Amino acid sequence: MISFNTLISRFIPLLPKVLAYQFAKRYVAGTSKESAFKVIQNLNNSGYLVTLDILGEHTEDSRMANSITEQYIDLYHEINNRKLNCNISLKPSHIGADINKDIFNTNLNKIITISDQFSNFVRVDMESSKYTDYTIQLFEQNRLKTDNIGTVFQAYLYRTYNDIVKLDKKNLNFRLCKGIYKENKDISIHNPTEINDNYLKILRYAFENNIYVGIATHDTLLLSLIYKLIEELQPLKDTFEFQVLYGVPMKGWNEKHINNGYKIRVYVPFGDDWYKYSIRRLKENPDIAGYVLKNLFSK
Ligand code: FDA
Repeated sequence: MISFNTLISRFIPLLPKVLAYQFAKRYVAGTSKESAFKVIQNLNNSGYLVTLDILGEHTEDSRMANSITEQYIDLYHEINNRKLNCNISLKPSHIGADINKDIFNTNLNKIITISDQFSNFVRVDMESSKYTDYTIQLFEQNRLKTDNIGTVFQAYLYRTYNDIVKLDKKNLNFRLCKGIYKENKDISIHNPTEINDNYLKILRYAFENNIYVGIATHDTLLLSLIYKLIEELQPLKDTFEFQVLYGVPMKGWNEKHINNGYKIRVYVPFGDDWYKYSIRRLKENPDIAGYVLKNLFSK
């Protein structure tokens, strides 16, 4: 039977945007950079590191891709001026990967240059499997120019372990997540336990080889198994960080990480493109819809 929260989360996309924002706002740091900086400052004050993302993907127009690139460049300046502990995450298709490689490479180069200038860091998010080869390739090419770049690998793809093992371990830096896109069964694992097994296999490889890894998951069962792995392999604390999405409830795990002296980085998205992103978050976790509704009416 369909739960009350699932019903609400299905109803939210039908609401006018102004109302939907009431539900959505816990997942996005507002639409302006000023609102994002407030969130980042608060997170930094509470001991969290941040990675900042401008919402949006699949840009079709080169002027728009260039404008997004300029916005990222501006963010690096602001982060530096405000002394925030914050790097950048971006999606290749947002800055031109769908238009052509030249536009994308030019834009990424500009971003890497400014990131390097401020000794900051850029993480290239992993999109659907259509982009996997391309993203690994661009990561490999740019890694020759700078240490301040990382990418993302998805534990649900069968290919991922081999992809990682093939890479030079020196200065390798990746975020490990389960993967969020709908992929075919011939290329991706669909069984949740098997995805977790693959996640742990990859993480073990990273720990055993001193590869810097961002452990991105909210799955509390998986986190318990990760803690066991940390206990077994004793990786150095400066070779990994936990990563969470802004607004996703962590049931005490963030406090636990902090008490253990582990780093946590919060992925903070902001921008005008908040609607699609937030609706996706609500569909993924219908419990949040009920929680937000209760807050709305108990004020
Ligand atoms: P799981 O899906 O089992 O979720 C565990 C619990 O957490 C759920 O029961 C739910 O309650 C809650 N939860 C999880 N995700 C939620 C969400 N989004 N909203 C609300 N509640 C949620 N993927 C990708 O393909 N490419 C990428 O570059 C990234 N980048 C990325 C960065 C960071 C910091 C994180 C945390 C995640 C990503 N992801 C991603 C998404 C990732 O692949 C995955 O889809 C989600 O994190 C959900 O998987 P979990 O490991 O959290 O477990």
